[in-house]
Amino acid sequence: MILFKNINKTYIKNQQHVHALNDINLTVDTGDIFGLIGWSGAGKSSLIRLVNQLEKPSSGSIQVDGVNVNSLDRAAQRQHKKKIGMIFQHFNLLESKTVAQNVAIPLILQGINRAEIQKRVEAMLSYVDLSAKKDSYPGQLSGGQKQRVGIARALITEPTILLCDEATSALDPQTTLSILKLLKQINDERKITILLVTHEMEVIASICNKVAVMEKGQIIEQGSVLDIFSAPQQDTTKKFVNTVLSPQIPEAVLASLPRQDNIYRLEFLGDSARKPVVNELILKQLVEINILFGNMREISGVVLGSMFIQMNGPEDQIQTAVKFLQEKGVHIERGVA
Ligand SMILES: Nc1ncnc2c1ncn2[C@@H]1O[C@H](COP(=O)(O)OP(=O)(O)OP(=O)(O)O)[C@@H](O)[C@H]1O
Ligand SMILES: [Mg+2]
Repeated sequence: MILFKNINKTYIKNQQHVHALNDINLTVDTGDIFGLIGWSGAGKSSLIRLVNQLEKPSSGSIQVDGVNVNSLDRAAQRQHKKKIGMIFQHFNLLESKTVAQNVAIPLILQGINRAEIQKRVEAMLSYVDLSAKKDSYPGQLSGGQKQRVGIARALITEPTILLCDEATSALDPQTTLSILKLLKQINDERKITILLVTHEMEVIASICNKVAVMEKGQIIEQGSVLDIFSAPQQDTTKKFVNTVLSPQIPEAVLASLPRQDNIYRLEFLGDSARKPVVNELILKQLVEINILFGNMREISGVVLGSMFIQMNGPEDQIQTAVKFLQEKGVHIERGVA
């Protein structure tokens, strides 16, 4: 478990004070894939880098598994760092070393013997599916392969926590998916807690179980990924959620409609998304229904969806239809926004 308590961080550069983190309180439970999301400059890297002491807080405390990481002596610090692996956006590999040599570095620093290093590096390269590249240099690898080397190097010391700072931001969507899949597998199979930083809500939707949204050094909203996606409260959170669920009706569809005052937006969650409620409504023949646009997405194993429909008919019949949908667990609002 990682516990951030009343964390503040101020950088002083050219006599200017930058308040990067402002009273942060956050709990990452063991086994979580916890996502930190925010626009550039929100303070995400500053926060994640406190966990492995790449940065120190100006005030407040960070506990990892009950131990306060800022009051450790040298020897205890070394032990602590072994528990934590980290991967980066630009991979941070040594260009003059082969793949196998890059992965071996943390073990060499620990003074482990050569035979043991070779055995562990080979097993790790096999795990990340890079055995065939062990003697290649980073310059000969694709972005996805470089990140796999980064992951292998981070895992070679058998950490219990993996920190990922924009680990997929330099990769194309297909490669991003394969790396996210690997991270999920690592979390499942190796029981490693993952704390990741991203500015892409798609990453959160794909693998995280919890999320915190950061803005101007503060956490403005946090919760389970499903709760945040189904009921975002803050404007920034809504914008991030909309990048994945895209609940806007396309302009081209809107432009083709003679009337817009009878458009309704339906939001489905879980069970209501699976049942053919709109079909049932059409069969009731209360009103005439025109389906304009729909979109479904599975988040944390639950289906979330939105649909725009037009309802034509007498107002009392429309109200009966609205009530019917609400009783079926559908959230319904009039209008296109
Ligand atoms: N070493 C530093 N010295 C001075 N200011 C810094 C330093 N590192 C970060 N900052 C400032 O702290 C604030 C938060 O930066 P941080 O890198 O944590 O944001 P971020 O959310 O990771 O952004 P990005 O998405 O661009 O990586 C920014 O205003 C940044 O300029
Ligand atoms: Mg950053």
